[in-house]
Amino acid sequence: MSGDMMAWTCTHGGFPKALQLSTIPYDIGPVKSTEIRVRTKAASINPVDVQLMSYPLLSRLPSFASSSQKGVGEDFSGVVEEAGVDSGFRAGDEVFGIIPFVPGGTLQEKIIVDTRKSVVVDKPIDWTWEQAAALPLVWLTARTTIEEIESYVNNGKVVVLGGSSSCGMYAIHIAKQRGWTVVASCSSRNTDFVRSMGADDTIDYTTTSVPEQVKAFGPDVIIDFVGGKECLGLAKRYVTVVGDKTDLTSSGGRNTYLWNPQMLLRAFGGRAGLGPSYTCINLEFKYSFLEEVLSLPPDKIIIDSIFEFDQATEAFHKLITGHTRGKVVVKMSTCVRVRYA
Ligand SMILES: NC(=O)c1ccc[n+]([C@@H]2O[C@H](COP(=O)([O-])OP(=O)(O)OC[C@H]3O[C@@H](n4cnc5c(N)ncnc54)[C@H](OP(=O)(O)O)[C@@H]3O)[C@@H](O)[C@H]2O)c1
Repeated sequence: MSGDMMAWTCTHGGFPKALQLSTIPYDIGPVKSTEIRVRTKAASINPVDVQLMSYPLLSRLPSFASSSQKGVGEDFSGVVEEAGVDSGFRAGDEVFGIIPFVPGGTLQEKIIVDTRKSVVVDKPIDWTWEQAAALPLVWLTARTTIEEIESYVNNGKVVVLGGSSSCGMYAIHIAKQRGWTVVASCSSRNTDFVRSMGADDTIDYTTTSVPEQVKAFGPDVIIDFVGGKECLGLAKRYVTVVGDKTDLTSSGGRNTYLWNPQMLLRAFGGRAGLGPSYTCINLEFKYSFLEEVLSLPPDKIIIDSIFEFDQATEAFHKLITGHTRGKVVVKMSTCVRVRYA
């Protein structure tokens, strides 16, 4: 039996042109043993979704190598409708998690999630669907950066560049759980907020020289969620999820090494002991990392705004201002219907 459902998909041409509300076919046959079928309740959106839509190589792929309509989104929360015997879940379970970037697609009414390739956990009963969907990607990113710096924090001093970013706020929270002293960059409008997430001090990136303030603090490590080069060399370990680029909408993470030989030389130089240790990383899909988020108090789950399903384009426009505080979440509206044939 098959049907169709509403889904946000993208084709070629970059955001916003590529993003469209579509009707896509939907197979309602039995799931495989490691899969679950989830009725989506909410999905959050991330800069990477826009970056993938605008990825230069993707738009030039021949049609046989790329499906014409790709799914959009990775984070989701929802109810398990059907569970394979080896999935670890049962019908009726309330879950949230993250699916792989490719082929991607959580901005749709139902999703099939392969539990071997995705990270899925039970939703705490006191979290809303929107709160649960807001966490996986940014929490896993923050947690991965902490893993990357842990062995370098000898004097307990950490700088987080981009303290009010969705990833940055959780990096601060996790760093404070380890008892480290955290100084974070943010604008003055976010100072109180960043302190409420645990930062001991802040640097206003709009009015002061961030490198000067960072140098004065003398951190063991710098975690960068903003991008750029101005604080390179100011700590013995520098971990970035963005790389040297400073715009939000072009691809970041490990891919950036491919077209930036300077970053590659920096990383190799650090490994050879010729300079500070430097790595540009991608988040890790680790179940144990996402399990840790379950102890996060609900008041520390920060949501900037919630949009109805048919307003996903507006949601993306909000996200790419680069000045949101917390996650932009899209909820499944009651107007969305699956039609079965
Ligand atoms: N490699 C990976 O695996 C990975 C994973 C996740 C995210 N990322 C990347 O990490 C970056 C952050 O993502 P996100 O979702 O956390 O971002 P976000 O929540 O959209 O970040 C928005 C926040 O950044 C702050 N900000 C903007 N410019 C700043 C600056 N120059 N200095 C300090 N703060 C600044 C803004 O504060 P104001 O409004 O006060 O300016 C705003 O609160 C993105 O580039 C994303 O693509 C990479």
